[in-house]
Formats: sequence, structure tokens, C-alpha cells
Amino acid sequence: MTAVAAQHARVLSGMRPTGRLHLGHYHGVLKNWVELQHEYQCFFFVADWHALTTHYDDPSMVPQSTWDMVIDWLAAGINPGEATLFIQSRVPEHAELHLLLSMITPLGWLERVPTYKDQQDKLKEKDLSTYGFLGYPLLQSADILVYRAGLVPVGEDQVVHVELTREVARRFNHIYGREPDFEEKAEQAIKKMGKKNAKLYKKYRRAYQEKGDDDALAAARALLESQQNIGIADRDRLFGFLEGGGMVILPEPQPLLTKASKMPGLDGQKMSKSYNNTIPLDASPKRVEKEMRTMPTDPARVRRNDPGNPDVCPVWQFHEVYSDKDVRDWVQKGCRSAAIGCVECKQPVIDAVLAELKPMQKRAKEYVDQPELVRNIINEGCERAREVAHETMDEVRHAMSLDY
Ligand code: TRP
Ligand code: SF4
Repeated sequence: MTAVAAQHARVLSGMRPTGRLHLGHYHGVLKNWVELQHEYQCFFFVADWHALTTHYDDPSMVPQSTWDMVIDWLAAGINPGEATLFIQSRVPEHAELHLLLSMITPLGWLERVPTYKDQQDKLKEKDLSTYGFLGYPLLQSADILVYRAGLVPVGEDQVVHVELTREVARRFNHIYGREPDFEEKAEQAIKKMGKKNAKLYKKYRRAYQEKGDDDALAAARALLESQQNIGIADRDRLFGFLEGGGMVILPEPQPLLTKASKMPGLDGQKMSKSYNNTIPLDASPKRVEKEMRTMPTDPARVRRNDPGNPDVCPVWQFHEVYSDKDVRDWVQKGCRSAAIGCVECKQPVIDAVLAELKPMQKRAKEYVDQPELVRNIINEGCERAREVAHETMDEVRHAMSLDY
């Protein structure tokens, strides 16, 4: 039986500090974060320790990359009034939980993570036969579990890390969630909810345990989440008691799969720094125009009179991201019949990219001009993050008999 995250409402995601971001990041990740922040309690952090797992030999870029990236988050519309923004290394609880989880994590689980071998092969020029690199998915597990996040927005390649996190959480709860007097304590906790709620909880629990009624399980969880009278430890007990297990100290998160960004690069391949085909969020309008005007098109369309084929043209991929149906029809017909030229065809996407970047660049400038403001946002975020992480660690230390 699985102990699913109680705090489905809490979302956590991180990004390595890579410096200024580009439209691929915006369409692939940031737009999604902006939407999530309205719906959930969101924690977004700069994974600076993660950067060290591959760049331990030259960490000097990390600080500037961090601030640049945070500015781009803010520019993209992440609102520090809604989401908590922070830096991983400012919350040492991540490291403490990582260490404690390392005690119960079988080596094989880490060696089996596909990104381990993949990255080692990909980054051949680096020596990645380090302890830190092997353990980096577990550090990610600690990142997630220390906030007891229910949902983790990630790309396809990171889903295995969330799966690992679930296994580690399950193992942790199994080993440390079994108190000798668990049932008794759970019964006492039920009483603390008050007569009416206690009765409801018991009814739902019975419906779930006897008839497998999932709606009852969901209702019971919602009931527990709304309880103000019981402490965290009691709540963990009642979550576990509900499903017939022990305490749920570290709830299992779910991946929230971000659909792969369709954002093409200037050459039609996926937009990525390593392909040198990006449009950075801080690109000047002049640069955007110049680069898009010189973008390759259907190579078979040499002369203006040659009909073209949008299917093999990178510009068409931009239309798929930016243009409405009318414009797309205009491109399809006009290109295939040579009624429009490529210069003409590019104009609507150039306009759309410029219109998208403009408000972001305006916001970015405000933050660039006021570095203090950015620092304050991060300081406040770190403080809020630490409060939550601290609560979890109290529970964890208690469960592991370390609170003496
Ligand atoms: N490993 C992720 C990446 O490389 C970044 C990351 C670190 C992360 N910790 C996380 C993402 C926790 C989601 C949740 O992109
Ligand atoms: Fe590409 Fe547009 Fe030129 Fe056709 S008309 S080849 S879609 S740029």
C-alpha cells in the first residue's frame, strides 16, 4: 500500500544555475511554473549544489549564474508574492536529509538510475566517478522530501528521479514509521479532532479499508489536511493509519510531467545552449530580427518562385508555436504555391517573439537595476523554505532517534 503525499497542494521544482535563460526554458518550464503558482503552494529553487556534481572543478560561475537565472524567473512572471523562491545551499536541511537518506539507500538503486551512466557517457571530458555525482539523484530526493512536496514538475528525463524519491520515502516510512504504540497514539490523535471529525474519519477509514473506496480515502485525506487541532506528528500518524501502515513521515511525491517543449531553435533542432541556436530572453530586438531573418528555411526553396515545403522548414515550427490558424493556413498555402516569400513568412513570427519578450525584458530591467530587491526576494524565500524544512527535519530526527 502506498503512502501518497498528504500535501498534494505543495509543488516543488528546481533548476540548475545555468545563467541567462532562453525561449526554450520559457516555453518548456517557466510558463508552466507561472501557471502552477496560481494553483498551488509553489517552491522553486536554484539547485546550486546540483551544479557542483558536474562542475566541481569550476564553481566560480555559480553565483552570477544564480542571480541571472533568478532575474529571468522573475522576468518570466514568477511572482514572489505567490511562489517561494530560494537557493538550495542556503537551506542546509537539504544536506542533512540527504545524509540521513544515504544511510538507507541501497547503492544499487543509485547505480541503476539511467541518468547516471548516460551523463557519464555524455560528459566524457569530465571525471564523474565521484561520490557526489552518484548521489545526486538522492540529493534531489532530499530536495523534494524535505518540503513534503506532493507534486514535482519535471521533464521526461527526470521522472526516474521522482520514482527513486518515492522508493526512498517508502523505505524511510517503513523503517522509521513504526512506533511500538502506533495504534494507541493514532486512536488518541483521532480524539483530538473533535467528535464530529473523529466520526467522519473513522467512517471514511472503514469505507476505504473494507471496501477499497478511493473517494473515501481522498475525503479522509482532505479532512486531515484541514485539521488545525492536531500536530504534524499526529497528522502523519493518521495518514498512515488510514491506509493501514505506520506513520507517513515522508509522503511520496508524484511527478507532474511537463510536456516536452515544442520550442525549436533557430536551426530547427531543439533549442539548446549546446546547439548554439537559442534566443535568449534578454536578446535585443535587433538581435532577434537579425537572427530570425537569417534563419535557414526549406533548403530546396532556392528561388522566390520555387514552391516550398513547411514540413522541412524551421520557420514553420515557429509558426506552430506562435501563429493562429489563419496565419498557419496562409503559410501552408502561400509556401507550397510560392505565393509568399520567406521574408514575408518570417515577419509574423518575428513580431510574435518580440511581443513575447518585450514585457519580460521590461520586468528584467527593473530587477537588474535593483539587485537589492532580488536579494531580498531570495532572502525571504530562503527563510520561508527553511521554516518548512525545519519542521520536516524535526520529525525526521525524532523518527531516527536523533532528537536527544
Ligand atoms: N535535477 C534537476 C535537473 O537537473 C534539478 C533539480 C534538482 C530538481 N532538485 C530538484 C528538479 C528537485 C525537481 C525537484 O534539471
Ligand atoms: Fe519556410 Fe515560410 Fe519559406 Fe515556406 S515560406 S520555406 S515555411 S520560411
